[in-house]
Amino acid sequence: MKAKSPGTKQAKPKVTPASRQTKATAKSTAASPTKSKAKRAATGKGEGDGKTVKKAEAKAAKGAGIHAEQETLAQKTPPVPASGHNPFRDVMRRHAAPEPATLVVFGVTGDLARRKLLPAIFGLFQGGLLSSAVELLGVGRQEMSSGEFRQFVAEALRESSETDEIEEGSLASFLETLAYRSGDLAGEQVYADIREFCEGRGTSNALFYLSLPPSLFITVSDGLAGQGLHEQTDGWRRLVIEKPFGRDLESARELQARLTRHWQESQIYRIDHYLGKETVQNLLAIRFGNAIFEPLWNRNLIDHVQITAAEDLGLEGRAGYYEEAGVVRDMLQNHLLQLLALTAMEPPAPGSPDALRDEKAKVFQAIGRITPEKADEVAVRGQYAAGTLYGERLSGYQDEEGVAEGSRTATYIAVRLEVDNWRWQGVPFFLRTGKRLPKKVTEIAVVFKRPPLSIFPNVERNVLAFRIQPDEGVSLKLSSKTPGQEMELREVVMDFRYDAFGAPLESPYSRLLLDALTGDASLFPREEEVMESWRIVQGLLDAWEGQGQTERYTSGTWSPDAADELIGEDRRWRRL
Ligand code: BG6
Repeated sequence: MKAKSPGTKQAKPKVTPASRQTKATAKSTAASPTKSKAKRAATGKGEGDGKTVKKAEAKAAKGAGIHAEQETLAQKTPPVPASGHNPFRDVMRRHAAPEPATLVVFGVTGDLARRKLLPAIFGLFQGGLLSSAVELLGVGRQEMSSGEFRQFVAEALRESSETDEIEEGSLASFLETLAYRSGDLAGEQVYADIREFCEGRGTSNALFYLSLPPSLFITVSDGLAGQGLHEQTDGWRRLVIEKPFGRDLESARELQARLTRHWQESQIYRIDHYLGKETVQNLLAIRFGNAIFEPLWNRNLIDHVQITAAEDLGLEGRAGYYEEAGVVRDMLQNHLLQLLALTAMEPPAPGSPDALRDEKAKVFQAIGRITPEKADEVAVRGQYAAGTLYGERLSGYQDEEGVAEGSRTATYIAVRLEVDNWRWQGVPFFLRTGKRLPKKVTEIAVVFKRPPLSIFPNVERNVLAFRIQPDEGVSLKLSSKTPGQEMELREVVMDFRYDAFGAPLESPYSRLLLDALTGDASLFPREEEVMESWRIVQGLLDAWEGQGQTERYTSGTWSPDAADELIGEDRRWRRL
């Protein structure tokens, strides 16, 4: 599935330092409020490093252990030997090393860049995956000298909970490679400065990362092209675009048309960071790396699929963006539909870099459009009201700073979709996502049918669950006899925890940045995927924007009640 750029060489397999190993524990808690605590533990603050390593390894060993009534898939992985050496640490990622290039990050002083991108770039640098031949040029509105920019980056790295443990020597070398240009993105000067910077380097390869509000995508694309920065005469030029790609089907088409005036489709990398998550890729590994699942993976045995992306966070100061976007554009049209496509798609042909994207596109094509008339029948929207979470009293969406009075913006959605093909006919896919729910958890649950004839009472459905985050792993729920004279059945769980590998989970942004730098676009949604996913949700946008009521749900509770009606009487949402 990987495309290798010609002329690239394999990076040496990297043995992770123990310090990074400890990070696995912290990363697995994802962006929950507990993360900083986990990070403190992981970075050994307040504990000796050796202690922290042992703790992580003990956790890994526990992940591989067997509990009463539970058998874990991790049993099949070699145990962590008493010497403390975990063989999985040696199985590090091999990736084509990027060629020399300039990495131009627009919006480098923004929230996303500070919290995610800069730590990801630094992580790659410190991990030896990004040589100094890849230089970072930050672009922002704020005026700063390159010296001030270096200080800004150092601070951002120290503050971000996503940063790998910093080795001071690596940080100093990293900072030396940085440069900064400021300017008005609607003007010409800033692009001329970027061109001059790129020309002054020994390479004309350049990756332009647009970590910007969507309203600026066309402006910047045109600005770069105005200086010929899209031309690939001596090297490659690529454009990475953050989501959402457009704000509906029509504007996405318009954006595509404007971009392709200058850029070829192969130069455009639409980023969806969910595809960079290791556990999302593990879904493919489990599905297509094990022959046992394929015969089960269809309408004959599967009752329904539930995809949940619950967040405990609220707006986090992003009212300006969120009021415009709402949950449909922010999570459903991209992250959730991508998870659905990976769950439902056919096996991709081996060896073709485009096969994965072809198969996902076919899934989207098989999902019918939700008509505005049907919107309230197949979907439930909600908006968080005041409530209590982790013992803290939280205000409702309406009281968040920057939210318009009487705003109908939905922060929760549950929707029922059907994939109309032979494999899935009649199997509903229930998707739900929302902010200020009781916890942060992302999961794909494949719920199987009950036995056709049950000789035991109370037989539940089997569930194969992929925990995307946190507590990453895979579990299978079965019915088993309980000990004793009676033939009583109980649900038990075979549970594989991803941290049994004892190696850190890679940041999705590191993975995707490296893929873009090496020219591997397989994890970036292609044009038709994006258009199809807009087509699917367009009816919801049409029906809901400025119309009807958005039901309120109390912060810290699972959903508006109507979501339970949506899933039906004989089914229930997973308790997570
Ligand atoms: C982003 C959304 O794309 O994904 C955010 O804009 C959301 O609103 C975030 O919080 C969730 O990502 P993750 O990786 O924390 O699940």
